[in-house]
Amino acid sequence: MLVLGLETSCDETGVALYDSERGLLADALFSQIDLHRAYGGVVPELASRDHVKRMLPLIRQVLAEAGCVPTEIDAIAYTAGPGLVGALLVGASCAQALAFAWGIPALGVHHMEGHLLAPMLEEQPPEFPFVALLVSGGHTQLVRVDGIGQYELLGETLDDAAGEAFDKTAKMMGLNYPGGPEIARLAAQGVAGRFVFPRPMTDRPGLQFSFSGLKTFALNTWQRCVAAGDDTEQTRCDISLAFQQAVVETLTIKCKRALKHAGMKRLVIAGGVSANKALRVSLEKMLGDMNGNVYYARPEFCTDNGAMIAFAGCQRLQAGQHESLAISVQARWPMEQLKPL
Ligand SMILES: Nc1ncnc2c1ncn2[C@@H]1O[C@H](COP(=O)(O)OP(=O)(O)OP(=O)(O)O)[C@@H](O)[C@H]1O
Ligand SMILES: [Mg+2]
Repeated sequence: MLVLGLETSCDETGVALYDSERGLLADALFSQIDLHRAYGGVVPELASRDHVKRMLPLIRQVLAEAGCVPTEIDAIAYTAGPGLVGALLVGASCAQALAFAWGIPALGVHHMEGHLLAPMLEEQPPEFPFVALLVSGGHTQLVRVDGIGQYELLGETLDDAAGEAFDKTAKMMGLNYPGGPEIARLAAQGVAGRFVFPRPMTDRPGLQFSFSGLKTFALNTWQRCVAAGDDTEQTRCDISLAFQQAVVETLTIKCKRALKHAGMKRLVIAGGVSANKALRVSLEKMLGDMNGNVYYARPEFCTDNGAMIAFAGCQRLQAGQHESLAISVQARWPMEQLKPL
């Protein structure tokens, strides 16, 4: 089954062609980062308008790269939520219009299910069941995964998502948006031990997270340095390292707990923060010590992309799921509401 996947939930227009027999044939992405940088975050109206501009040229590009013509496409998968409603509506209307014109089915895909299944596009995909850590700009969740659509939420953040904390910490030190890759870059030059940040909620049982206090701790630390005339590049690097170490260690402690709770030794990490090298190293060490394995996608498939939507959609479309021509999206959408395959 050849599936065209469209992703427009936030500030990236992603398009891909995935074939159930041949794998990923082509994928293309247009990132709006430059458009939103001046505002230090995503401006929803600008995002929607830009998706409108990029969608059809990207579809043409992907078809050309794969050497395919529209009549070969069997179905269309698009992100139906969660995300920015205006942005989601661009992908949904485009998908439904093309599906109607081409006489093929369309299916709305859950954005976080897309992230969750992205590591299955890699050469050694994880087998079910496993524990998943979803760490992105809008989510920090631990999920028990018994199969596609069989999700049990084990814990999540009570306030900021891990990626959001990276972005806000970077912004307060005057770094570029998105902050995650910037903090990771500066942390590589940081001096360990100059600053020590707390590991939130690790001193009590449970699988919940809280990252807003860590962000405030970073702000107070930075402001103290500014007041002392020590707002140098090295200080930014040292704070970046201390912040990253705190996030990584906190996530590692909670993943270990979740695996123990579920009685499992397979961990999947997905979403933008799963591209973080220090996090991968720390989790690999933890899983290595317990004879387990950690799975993640290549860096470009950790952040938003069309390939994960084409792949997730293909699994469900092959099982016969599809939708009416109604154009319907959801800004909020708990993953536990999804139908099992
Ligand atoms: N190397 C990295 N280290 C830390 N964080 C990173 C890294 N690369 C990307 N990020 C963070 O990942 C986030 C973007 O990921 P993603 O695209 O999955 O999130 P989103 O789509 O905005 O949110 P959601 O998927 O929850 O709707 C940003 O917060 C970004 O700073
Ligand atoms: Mg995302």
